[in-house]
Amino acid sequence: EGPDVIDIRSLYGQSKMFTYDPGFVSTASCKSAITFIDGDQGILLYRGYPIEQLATRCDFMEVSYLLLRGELPTSTQKEQFVNAVKHHTMLHEQLIKFLSGFRRDAHPMAVMVGVVGALSAFYHDAMDVSDTLHREQSMLRLIAKLPTITAIAYKYNIGQPFVYPRNNLDFTENFLHMMFATPTEKYVPNPVIVRALDRILILHADHEQNASTSTVRLAGSSGANPFACISAGITCLWGPAHGGANEACLNMLEEIGDVSRINEYIERAKDKDDPFRLMGFGHRVYKNFDPRATLMRETCHEVLDELGLHNDRLFKLALELEKIALEDDYFIEKKLYPNVDFYSGIVQRALGIPTSMFTAIFATARTVGWVAQWNEMISDPEQKIGRPRQLYVGPPHRNIPDDHGRS
Ligand code: ACO
Repeated sequence: EGPDVIDIRSLYGQSKMFTYDPGFVSTASCKSAITFIDGDQGILLYRGYPIEQLATRCDFMEVSYLLLRGELPTSTQKEQFVNAVKHHTMLHEQLIKFLSGFRRDAHPMAVMVGVVGALSAFYHDAMDVSDTLHREQSMLRLIAKLPTITAIAYKYNIGQPFVYPRNNLDFTENFLHMMFATPTEKYVPNPVIVRALDRILILHADHEQNASTSTVRLAGSSGANPFACISAGITCLWGPAHGGANEACLNMLEEIGDVSRINEYIERAKDKDDPFRLMGFGHRVYKNFDPRATLMRETCHEVLDELGLHNDRLFKLALELEKIALEDDYFIEKKLYPNVDFYSGIVQRALGIPTSMFTAIFATARTVGWVAQWNEMISDPEQKIGRPRQLYVGPPHRNIPDDHGRS
């Protein structure tokens, strides 16, 4: 801070103390009862339940219910919830026309930002965010329609006809059906593949106040409708430092190409003059193994075994890269471990999902966490409009010169 800064702040009576915390590394923006993370110990709990138990003993619909309602459902509650979600899987034909106005080669995330935001134009009841029933309706719509929008964005991109939802399938089977069925070929679900995608959805469903969730909360704090807020969350998620990391990670593995070139890239990641970072490594909160990465690596083995791809070039490369990085002093000292995105890209690629769709799949999963967090915020009597302060470092108070515009 220079003297000018002090001058102008005292001039306008800004004598209050603010915390200067770039990136909010130590500022809690809210109270939340949804997700707990202990980054030093590598612990992740949804509503108190460890992610390892949820990922192995529950399905995505049960986890969604848990995140939204706070408890795991009984079988009757689950049936009612699943049916309520199924009720909303279709998209308005006008919305499909809207989606079809994009360029075919548009990035799916660009399409998602637009189409999810455009849901606001169809559901006027969503504007009243103070009404609990309207909020509930909007949350179900978002959870149900995201897979449909994601799948349609994919089909549009590859020039295939859209596949409509089949409500006799479960949530994840239906998602795979909409992505992979064609007019000539029915999608036949493989339980290992369905389970793998379901696990990806569970592991990405919520992660407390990450950048995109904080974006959703900040947008929602003004009373904006939930479709617009989730569209803002999708925008934030798109960045390569956040949800775009799994796409960036796979592109990086392709670029490395061969085990013999790993050291070259490790050295680049350590070089402060080189902007290159090892994608899929490091996390703001986890300074120990990301528990989701451990589960994802397990799923990776299961899927590659099932599909007979254990010799997959990129998977072998990823395993070797992980081994070398974990033994490197730089990565040890900075506590950089593989995060969930390190393996989720390889799994998705094995499932036949193209790289450009990875972040859209992440957005589909995270929608549940976003709406749960949004609803928690709206229901909180202490909730205020989000309004961070700043430390002003611009010019001091000055007057426009008398000869302005004349010289
Ligand atoms: N490769 C090389 N160096 C790294 C990496 C990396 N992947 N990640 C962090 N570092 C270094 C930084 O250069 C910094 O070094 P310094 O202390 O010498 O300045 C130090 O480790 C701390 O890193 P920060 O960027 O300050 O940590 P932050 O918490 O802000 O960043 C982030 C976390 C953004 C995830 C970072 O680790 C990163 O960019 N990783 C690669 C992208 C990625 O995988 N993102 C996915 C995150 S998980 C998710 O969104 C689901």
